[in-house]
Amino acid sequence: MIPVIVIDGPAGTGKGTIAALLAERLGWHLLDSGALYRVLGLAALQQQVSFDDAAELTKLAEALALQFDAGRIFLAGAEVTDAIRTEAVGMAASQVAAHPPVRDALLDWQRQCAQLPGLIADGRDLGTVVFPDAALKIFLDASAEVRANRRYKQLIEKGLSANLFELIADIRERDDRDRNRAVAPLCAAADAVIVDSTTLSIAAVFDRVLEEVRRVFPDLVL
Ligand code: CDP
Ligand code: CDP
Repeated sequence: MIPVIVIDGPAGTGKGTIAALLAERLGWHLLDSGALYRVLGLAALQQQVSFDDAAELTKLAEALALQFDAGRIFLAGAEVTDAIRTEAVGMAASQVAAHPPVRDALLDWQRQCAQLPGLIADGRDLGTVVFPDAALKIFLDASAEVRANRRYKQLIEKGLSANLFELIADIRERDDRDRNRAVAPLCAAADAVIVDSTTLSIAAVFDRVLEEVRRVFPDLVL
């Protein structure tokens, strides 16, 4: 059985950062499932496919010419690593992600990422739907204001424009849609370890997660 660790939670809780640190520490593969939905959201925007058109969006998902290469992301050969990180694309991602057939179309692709020696995967439904048998499930949470502030700093550091008040509203709207959709809603799996990072630094969260990794994989050298 290939070992899988999943990290789920709402936007800006530090999932991506912690998942990348853990993958590097363990030498395991990394799946940023949000990037998959973001690329699909960007493709829908570029090709002017309506976010309500589940059939067209599913076709787009099935034919998605996506490539991950050493931290860089390509859509049909063009680099989209930074273009998918805007809140507008995050919002598009959450709208396309609400359609059950779209999610189904992306399921196999995600499961195929589970390869030896192991996989760290982050998203919204990794512990509940994609990898329900994952050996360790972490659910990260934090207040919406703190998360929006983190996202604001992140965008400014990348030289992208951002408005803090719009970000708080957008993140709340996206969380609501993700939490209340009919299929694979954002929620902690019953067997997930919940970590609230509102007042914790990345280093403190990482230490907390490493404690859980040691508990579940006592033989791993960390
Ligand atoms: O993947 P997710 O949207 O959950 O969050 P992220 O992209 O990993 O983190 C968003 C930003 O918040 C990054 O710049 C992190 O360094 C920062 N962050 C933080 O400062 N403290 C935390 N406890 C978690 C994240
Ligand atoms: O980085 P951040 O947490 O802001 O978002 P993300 O993980 O990149 O995900 C963008 C959007 O994709 C989310 O708001 C969800 O609507 C959707 N998503 C999903 O439905 N299922 C996943 N496993 C991952 C992302």
